[in-house]
Amino acid sequence: MHSKNVVKPIDTSGLVGLVAWFGVLLKPYVPSCLLIGLCILLQVGLYVTYPLGFRTIFDTVIPFKNLDLLVKIMVGLLVLFVVCGLAAVAQARLASDVGSKVMRDLRARMFEQLNRLSSSYFMKVDSSDLLSRFSLEFASIEAAYVRALPALIECVLVVFGCLLTIAIVDWRIAIVTAILVPLSFISGKVLGPRVDGLIYQKIGFESGMLGVLQESLHSRPIIRALGTEKESIRKFAISNNNLMTASTGFGFYASLIPLSSLYGVNVILVTIVGAGAALVINGGLSIGSFFGCIGLLGSVAAGASSASSLYAVVMAASQKVRRVNDLITAEIEVNDRPDAIALPVFTSEIHFENVNFGYTQEFPILKDLTCSIKAGTSVALVGGSGSGKSTMVNLIMRFFDPSSGTLTIDGTDIRDATQESLRGQMGVVMQDAYLINASIAENILVGKLDATQEEVEEAARKAEIHDFICALPYGYSTLVGENGGFLSGGQRQRIAIARALIRNPSMLLLDEPTSALDPSTEASINHSIEQLARDRTVIMVTHRLNSVQRFDKIFVLDQGQIAEEGNHYELLEKRGLYSQMWDKQTGVSTAADGSVRVTPERLKSIPIFSKVNLDQLASIASNFILEDFEAGAVLMKQGDLSEKFYIIFRGSLDVLKVDSEGHESRIAILDEGDHFGEIAVIKHVPRSATVRARKKSTCLSLNRTHFMTLVRNNPELLEELDEYIKLRQ
Ligand SMILES: Nc1ncnc2c1ncn2[C@@H]1O[C@H](COP(=O)(O)OP(=O)(O)OP(=O)(O)O)[C@@H](O)[C@H]1O
Ligand SMILES: [Mg+2]
Repeated sequence: MHSKNVVKPIDTSGLVGLVAWFGVLLKPYVPSCLLIGLCILLQVGLYVTYPLGFRTIFDTVIPFKNLDLLVKIMVGLLVLFVVCGLAAVAQARLASDVGSKVMRDLRARMFEQLNRLSSSYFMKVDSSDLLSRFSLEFASIEAAYVRALPALIECVLVVFGCLLTIAIVDWRIAIVTAILVPLSFISGKVLGPRVDGLIYQKIGFESGMLGVLQESLHSRPIIRALGTEKESIRKFAISNNNLMTASTGFGFYASLIPLSSLYGVNVILVTIVGAGAALVINGGLSIGSFFGCIGLLGSVAAGASSASSLYAVVMAASQKVRRVNDLITAEIEVNDRPDAIALPVFTSEIHFENVNFGYTQEFPILKDLTCSIKAGTSVALVGGSGSGKSTMVNLIMRFFDPSSGTLTIDGTDIRDATQESLRGQMGVVMQDAYLINASIAENILVGKLDATQEEVEEAARKAEIHDFICALPYGYSTLVGENGGFLSGGQRQRIAIARALIRNPSMLLLDEPTSALDPSTEASINHSIEQLARDRTVIMVTHRLNSVQRFDKIFVLDQGQIAEEGNHYELLEKRGLYSQMWDKQTGVSTAADGSVRVTPERLKSIPIFSKVNLDQLASIASNFILEDFEAGAVLMKQGDLSEKFYIIFRGSLDVLKVDSEGHESRIAILDEGDHFGEIAVIKHVPRSATVRARKKSTCLSLNRTHFMTLVRNNPELLEELDEYIKLRQ
């Protein structure tokens, strides 16, 4: 059962809902709000009373030439204006003070919520959408609540106050005004829904454009490397144009509302002046009262016209408030139970019991998985791409909860423990080091904020990076750059290991920590990890079987289930999946100078080379060259003639088929040790599929010319190959 978030959603589609939503945020600032209310009332009082001064001037001062009274009225009005002017300044000061504090509180609530939300939320909402809620939406909400709402309240009070005064002066004019003024709001009512729809569309395009921008900044190196800047610019232009179209529609309809109400109000004003004049002639209305009413009507007209523009600004925030509110009230799926306990220090075992899990309901990933990880041991999770290795780690960290089955640590279901106590025992290192743009020391301190300099150095020593740091001119104060860009991949990972170790975790979880590193750096980091495994539980996900040869236990995952388990030697003896993976991965050796060679024996295990003798294979092995591919790079394009045969040394590749309508679908994933391209090379025919790197990958490639030399030297090979191709097709 998922526990629900405590904040109740409020319906913010109408003005009342919007004000109620803001009212909740205003709670801590009631005294300031009361003062703002007082300032507004004072100003309303001015608008309502000063036209009455005109009445006295016309009815008493002018006919009776009473200059004393005129001076008193003028002084009175002057004092009134000064007081109200001061009230307006005080109101502006208080409103901006309260407004910015409320906005600060709201941002803080949103950010806290972001940090509490479960990983599943971030699968549904992308980061540019969230960024837009903090920036674009926020600007509109601030404009609505901090500036427009107090002014709207003031305008409404002015309109009602003036109507009331007109009623006191002459009830007949008040009734005509009360009937006609609401007509000026009709345009708002009619156009409002259209404007709402356009705002929603505009927000979508704005956040879409942020997405393109973010993606382009994030993938800048690969865009440069592949020369796809034009495609990037084209995508941006599309989203920029969409935004322009939506903005044009929105700008037009949004400006129609105040415009039509301004004209409407003026027509009403003229009508009422006519009616008033008729009353002066026939109905016993004094000329002073008539001018007084006209002054009041002017305030009503100005108030009503401003109110409709301000109303549009407040309502424009409605969709944006909804999106911010959706974030604040989003359900936190992985939540601490009210009676959650602090998990004691891990001493016995992590146990998966019939665990089923899928990121979505339709696609189960882990299927009835049962396994135990003993405390103090080193455990590896290996298996093909997508077999569920990282998913197991995600469940141990409780980023997600199993859909059925249990995951216990020392017999306690981890859903019964607080997340803080669970994760407090874990050190985590992932494929990406995720360094912050700060100093090395600050990056290590992220693991334990209150650690001392000695602890930082101790962790760095264990991660075998202390000496390197000390040799830097600024030592631990050296800045690492954005995403650790000033450091090498290996140094970044060692800092990430130090960051994990500083909390002295009882479990160290490593998800392909070395997959982006070159072989010699990988070997040296693996050595460090082996040292660390001596006094804690280590759970490592990896594709490199030689990294885990000395691990106590290896779980081999296949399609979300444990296919085999045991240590390296036990698994080799089984001659099952693990041993097949091992065979594929061995036979590619790394020399001391970092160069990589495929062995003739390894080539012989590939069907197209199986009939070639080892001497010839040794010569062809020397023709293989090493090629690096960034994530997303296309190695072969469907339909193109291919000149190369590849063996994957590091990484993993997608094999994709593009149908006649241009839709792409994945037909296979190729992993380390797999090979491809043989048919296209042998027959020199167009490629039947596209091959693209899923992550940074390295392949050994053999050019067709070398391959054809081999065929020329072994004419009988052609027949064999024909047979092989027939079998494959
Ligand atoms: N956040 C996610 N949302 C939806 N599906 C996901 C998510 N993460 C993983 N998957 C899917 O779950 C399956 C298992 O993924 P997982 O990351 O556990 O595989 P893996 O064994 O770690 O693979 P790799 O070796 O490529 O890292 C894959 O089919 C993947 O597409
Ligand atoms: Mg993974």
